[in-house]
Amino acid sequence: MGTLTKLTAQGAAARPLLAGKTAARAATTAPGWSLRVTRALGGEDVVDVLTRQHRQIKLGFLRAALPGPWRRRNFERLMRLLAVHEAAEEAHVHPAARRALRHGRELAARRRTEEKEAKRLLIGLWHTGPGGAGYLRRLNEARRAITRHAAREEREEFRALRRAVSAARLRMLGAEVKLTQVYAPTRPHRWVNNEATNKLAAPLLGPVDRARDAMRHRAAS
Ligand SMILES: [Fe+2]
Ligand SMILES: [Fe+2]
Repeated sequence: MGTLTKLTAQGAAARPLLAGKTAARAATTAPGWSLRVTRALGGEDVVDVLTRQHRQIKLGFLRAALPGPWRRRNFERLMRLLAVHEAAEEAHVHPAARRALRHGRELAARRRTEEKEAKRLLIGLWHTGPGGAGYLRRLNEARRAITRHAAREEREEFRALRRAVSAARLRMLGAEVKLTQVYAPTRPHRWVNNEATNKLAAPLLGPVDRARDAMRHRAAS
């Protein structure tokens, strides 16, 4: 994981001024072992992985709004998906955009501002919970903010990454995103909102969140 990240960073550092078509021409030749790791994780590129998760998130909001005994389970699944999705974007995708795209710094800063606002709404929603007063209003508010944010990511950031970054590196980023999501926190944490805090704190917070999830499920069953 760390080595994959370092390889990605080294690749970016070796061509700091590349953007657009220039970077597209400078396709990275990943070493054999990292290609094997990438293939073992499905070989999907990062844009495909995250775009699929955007669709799952939209569906998750609809499911979490349904009344009935499955509402809590659907709500928790949505929170978990949102938490691991944003953790991986903050740790890998926005930093890659910042390094590889011509206006990547401004672009990544805008996405992070939206993510901070979304996290504020999700923390409120998490504390309200599916049984609390105002749940549907808060759920809808978070849905609107996150749907807008996801559309901007796809339109402005993902498309540009596809043009500027080699296919091999996009697949490596896809593998890094999947690995990060294995141990990422499963609920929103206000101060875990950038590359450094995600890479440093997430491996500690993730297991704590997962242990709390398991305890809650045991208590509920
Ligand atoms: Fe995001
Ligand atoms: Fe996203």
